[in-house]
Amino acid sequence: MCGIVDYIGDKQAQPILLSSLSRLEYRGYDSCGIAVSSSPPRRIEAYKDAVRVEALAKMVPQLGGTAGIGHTRWATCGEPSQVNAHPHCDCAGNIAVVHNGVINNFQRLRQQLTSEGHNFVSETDTEVIPHLIEKYYDGNLEKAVEAALRDVEGSYAIVVLMAGEPKLVAAKKDSPLIIGIGDRENFIASDVPAILDYTNRVIYLEEGDIGVVTKDNIKIKRDGTEVSRKEHKILWSIEEAQKGGYEHFMLKEIHEQPKVIRDTLGEYTSSAEPVVDLARIRDEGIESMLILACGTSYYAALVGKYIVEELLRIPVRVEIASEFSYYGQTLARTGAIVITQSGETADTLKAVKRLKEVGCRVVAITNVVGSSASRIADQTIYTRAGPEISVAATKSFTAQLMVLYWLAMGYSKADARRLATMLLGLRQLPSKVQQVLDNEAIILEHAKYLSKYENVFFIGRGINFPVALEGALKLKEISYIHAEGYAAGELKHGPFALLGENTPVIAIVAQDNTYEVMLTNIKEVKARKSPLIALAEEGDEAIGELADFVITVPRVDALFSPVVNTVALQLLAYYTAKERGCPIDFPRNLAKSVTVE
Ligand code: F6R
Repeated sequence: MCGIVDYIGDKQAQPILLSSLSRLEYRGYDSCGIAVSSSPPRRIEAYKDAVRVEALAKMVPQLGGTAGIGHTRWATCGEPSQVNAHPHCDCAGNIAVVHNGVINNFQRLRQQLTSEGHNFVSETDTEVIPHLIEKYYDGNLEKAVEAALRDVEGSYAIVVLMAGEPKLVAAKKDSPLIIGIGDRENFIASDVPAILDYTNRVIYLEEGDIGVVTKDNIKIKRDGTEVSRKEHKILWSIEEAQKGGYEHFMLKEIHEQPKVIRDTLGEYTSSAEPVVDLARIRDEGIESMLILACGTSYYAALVGKYIVEELLRIPVRVEIASEFSYYGQTLARTGAIVITQSGETADTLKAVKRLKEVGCRVVAITNVVGSSASRIADQTIYTRAGPEISVAATKSFTAQLMVLYWLAMGYSKADARRLATMLLGLRQLPSKVQQVLDNEAIILEHAKYLSKYENVFFIGRGINFPVALEGALKLKEISYIHAEGYAAGELKHGPFALLGENTPVIAIVAQDNTYEVMLTNIKEVKARKSPLIALAEEGDEAIGELADFVITVPRVDALFSPVVNTVALQLLAYYTAKERGCPIDFPRNLAKSVTVE
């Protein structure tokens, strides 16, 4: 999704903007641009195009100016092109604006402004903003921005730069925006990695905030009154946000998973306080649980259903957040959890707001401190995955599962012996995941084989059914191979028609109560001549005779098998995409943080 980074200070803005924009590339974008307020002469110099940041850096001449704004665009309104890229300017070219979000009433505003003599050059919704500011400007930029935003309906994180004004004006509604605090310099950005090179002191703007930022002052107002906002210290290091010798962020993030498991568990096992006050939930008469999420986080939620139902013995419903508005929800006596790596996914945030409207107590599981989800929810549990830069979620999924295991174990109705065994299993998980990673060279060979096909099925049963869904999602999003995840028993109810020697099937074979029937399903697939790759536990003798290829994973408690299996499938997807020459960290048309519905 679109990214914003802005600078005001003593240094030259141009190099800072360009290097910070490259830190935002992971969000996914199709165009980018910068504008610098030069002095003298006092004017806005803007350069933008439908190119990568590297190409933009080559086409921009040296600009003299210590205040500037930058943007990476992910097209929503108007195709990726030079004119549609941000920043957008007013008629006189004195006011430049970068914007994340969507202005819903822009057509009407555009018609009105055109009839008043304003001239539009792009197809974007954003362009109405600089024109509105121009219309209302009478010497006070801040007031003009406030007036402009009163006309606007929709979501926005905007930053405004005006020639000759030694300040940046920022405003936020339903789209994240942070202010980074420096020494005689300040930053504004859509997310933390953009500014981590310069500062780890951050203020999160809240809904309706307008920030006026100079090089040595930050003033935040809401409804015309000055407000104070807490400063947060970001614990992520810049090294964590860099590739650290790996070819891709995705590979680095896959390899970080043993540490992520240790960090996330360490966070909660060392705490004397319960992770979440489920006792209170019980006091409130909660009889069932609802988990909401999107994409990979949704698949973590589906695994969570199995974990919570087994350990807590209460019914769990898992819903796709974007669908949550469309059915009659029965939410009486329901405790709600939302899972979101970024904490900014628009569909998930909308669902949280809806839950709160109907009086549900909401617990958010998120990776980003201070994110919107953490601010709206009643309670937040942080995963300790560190910054996840690659668009494809990997380590955040594992960290989410760790929180779910810990939550469910903390309140489990299982007997003490079972819990003690599980705790031991949990502590061994980092080394089990390391074993999967050590098996990388073999997985690479299977990936080479898989990369020649255009359609693949992933099948699983029980707690590994969501793993099949996640395996298919990972493969399709980064290798562009059409992949579908299926409950193994469902193949015969339709997809069998597609099986044959050109459609490999990847079967996740767990040593639990699904094992025997899974072998039967595999025989059915083989009878239809599909090549079969099995993901099976070490020591499984029978599988070698049925499958064409076997990827071996270490033996773990069945409840933890989604962790080792998913890591193996992440590697399989990664190496398949690599073999096909795909842009792994930035897959086409995708964005890391999906801030539109
Ligand atoms: C897939 C992926 C997406 C995200 C989804 C939700 O690899 O990354 O499917 O999982 O967009 O994002 P969050 O968890 O940030 O709400």
